[in-house]
Amino acid sequence: MAQDTRYAFQAEWYDPNAAIIRKYQFLFYPNDSTAEMYDIKNRRMFLKRTKCDSVRFEDLYVNSTINLHSRQLTLVDYADDFTRRALSTRKEKTLAMIKPDAISKFGPIIDMIYQGGFYITNAKMTRLSRRDAETFYAEHEGKPFYDNLVRFMTSGPILAMELMGENTVAAWRNLLGPTDSSRARSEAPRSIRAKFGTDQTQNACHGSDSSMSADRETNFFFGPDAPKMRNTAKLSECTCCVIKPTAVKEGKAGQIMAAIVEAGFEVSTAQMFHIEKANAEEFLEVYKGVVAEYKEMVSELCLGPCFVLEVTGKGANTAQAFREFVGPHDPEIARHLRKHTLRANYGIDKVRNSVHCTDLPEDGLLEVEYFFRILSE
Ligand code: RTP
Ligand code: MG
Repeated sequence: MAQDTRYAFQAEWYDPNAAIIRKYQFLFYPNDSTAEMYDIKNRRMFLKRTKCDSVRFEDLYVNSTINLHSRQLTLVDYADDFTRRALSTRKEKTLAMIKPDAISKFGPIIDMIYQGGFYITNAKMTRLSRRDAETFYAEHEGKPFYDNLVRFMTSGPILAMELMGENTVAAWRNLLGPTDSSRARSEAPRSIRAKFGTDQTQNACHGSDSSMSADRETNFFFGPDAPKMRNTAKLSECTCCVIKPTAVKEGKAGQIMAAIVEAGFEVSTAQMFHIEKANAEEFLEVYKGVVAEYKEMVSELCLGPCFVLEVTGKGANTAQAFREFVGPHDPEIARHLRKHTLRANYGIDKVRNSVHCTDLPEDGLLEVEYFFRILSE
């Protein structure tokens, strides 16, 4: 990287006190991880160049949310040609989808995504209606496999994901392997379709075939005009699990999901959220004044994207059983006393303890509703 490479973005920050959106120019210097901000309206320096370890190169793309000294900024566009040229190919996005035949393998598949060097910037589990599937696969209308394909794609939940990285459209299709799962097994045995696919139609996952399709398909699920697709939350005998931003950044989310399923729980819905500070405060309110690390817990929760899961599968005992599986708040204690818990395996410290889970069984439904009813609607 050149000596003082500088990336420039137009950024917006919602100022809750004034209830207005403030616009800044956000400048990032990757060589020493420093940033500065310029107040566009008042034409003055807003933040002198300072160290900001919470922002990483992979967080820099259009529509990303970043955290800077407890302000949550949205990068709305590139602010100069250099940044546009330097980043647009390295920040290519694609649509990945886990199809109904492989939805129970979402943990290992997400782990392959992270191990493959991709970033997941959006994710939602939903169930396609007939109309959704027909629209999504409109290009195949009239082909002999079309009806079968639509029937298959509506037969159960799917997980749509937006992936980002360098050359992502081609790289993701490469990880998928050939369309026909048995050909994948002979020609690309380490590919996703070789591992998780069944046949020519039931082939585990989808990937956009060009950057133009990627635009259309990511918009179909995540764009501002995306049709409202309901999540698959059951909202009964459930508990809430949040895979926290640090664990997501470290690429551990897939392993955590896989561990949850292996322990006999069901993940009945999953979605990625970029939690805003006000919402994090609201969600964690019960810990305010009770847990010494409350403030840090709030910051952790909005440090980057997190995955929220509705966990079910153990009837009325789900919340209690899941809490035991998550383990003590402090991973150090967990590693001594409860070695096989999630926090013992994936936590770093009391705040970055990899997952939040509902504490009181009677709050399970409330917390699930907070994300899947209130925040997502
Ligand atoms: P995808 O779009 O799902 O990523 O897969 P692809 O590009 O590799 O395959 P494409 O030709 O776009 O076909 C879309 C999906 O239709 C089903 N299919 N069935 N002969 C058949 O039975 C047949 N051919 C295609 C597959 O589910 C394929 O992924
Ligand atoms: Mg295709």
